[in-house]
Amino acid sequence: MRAAVHTSFGPPDVVQVVEKPVPALRRGDVLVKVHATTVTSAECAMRRGEPRWGRVVLGLRRPRPRLRTLGLEVAGVVESAGSGVTRFRPGDQVFGFTGFSVGGHAEYVRLPAEGSLCRKPESVTFAEAAAAVDGATTALFFLRDRAGVRPGQRVLVNGASGSIGTYAVQLAKHLGAVVTAVCGPSNVELVRSLGADEVVDYTERDFTDDLDTYDVVFDTVTKSSFRRSRRALRRGGKYLPTTGLANHLWAWGTAFLGKRVVAGMSVDKRATLPFVSALLESGELRVVIDRTYPLSDIAAAHRYVDAGHKRGNVVIAVTS
Ligand SMILES: NC(=O)c1ccc[n+]([C@@H]2O[C@H](COP(=O)([O-])OP(=O)(O)OC[C@H]3O[C@@H](n4cnc5c(N)ncnc54)[C@H](OP(=O)(O)O)[C@@H]3O)[C@@H](O)[C@H]2O)c1
Repeated sequence: MRAAVHTSFGPPDVVQVVEKPVPALRRGDVLVKVHATTVTSAECAMRRGEPRWGRVVLGLRRPRPRLRTLGLEVAGVVESAGSGVTRFRPGDQVFGFTGFSVGGHAEYVRLPAEGSLCRKPESVTFAEAAAAVDGATTALFFLRDRAGVRPGQRVLVNGASGSIGTYAVQLAKHLGAVVTAVCGPSNVELVRSLGADEVVDYTERDFTDDLDTYDVVFDTVTKSSFRRSRRALRRGGKYLPTTGLANHLWAWGTAFLGKRVVAGMSVDKRATLPFVSALLESGELRVVIDRTYPLSDIAAAHRYVDAGHKRGNVVIAVTS
């Protein structure tokens, strides 16, 4: 099968499409023929070997062999099912998250049948389904499960035009919040169309000047800090960062006037993916796809995502 592989850390050109054996099927696993996958900011960081301390997991001098084919989000068709699998059958259309085993940037991927895998709603395309895995479930994990957003609360989403951000705006509205979305000038109309009640253009206004205003500040792109953002939080407010060692350290620290950092990692999608799937099926959740690249051109997709200005998601079409 064709698969994208990087054998060293570095710029997008380290990614090459090569022939690899199809993964062998094991008990409890399904083999999925991948129709669509994505290139995310998280994978670009893995390709660069960043953050440096992350190399303890990624590989000290070069990527660990099992992490050389990236690909966190996939949508495709079950090709075969291992012994003991009752949840899926060959021919089922599915979408899901590969997690720490990655491997989705390939024509086939092996996934645990009881893992973060779900039937794909018929109403969405493979491209849309693949692009609705990590961003949507991460936004749901932070807003619903970590912050417990309630109707009427004021939620600010920083990075509202990114993958997590476009879903965060929609999901915060779904949870009944009043949403302020922060984005650049070219994305104001996009985030408004996703349902934001108020839009802040970060080139014109600094949201941290909105004193004692928000119950939740969700910084999906970690461009702010708790130190500065806490003045924009109401008493008891929560600051949600998606990355940053310092932010995670703050999360262990003292709360200021009850204002605190709530960090975390959304890795197990078993509880969030069915919820996202239902919203996709009912048409309540819109998937924003910026660009689509063929697998053969995946290095160009990495280059585009590396620039840091994608809108929503960048899809890789694996089958034509
Ligand atoms: N904790 C977890 O479980 C978890 C899970 C998944 C991902 N992550 C992490 O979450 C982060 C975000 O991922 P993502 O895929 O959602 O990001 P993304 O889609 O790559 O974000 C790109 C967007 O960020 C916007 N942006 C750039 N600079 C900005 C600024 N100063 N202020 C506001 N917006 C700005 C850009 O808009 P403009 O073009 O207008 O600047 C662009 O639309 C990544 O670091 C990823 O590793 C964490």
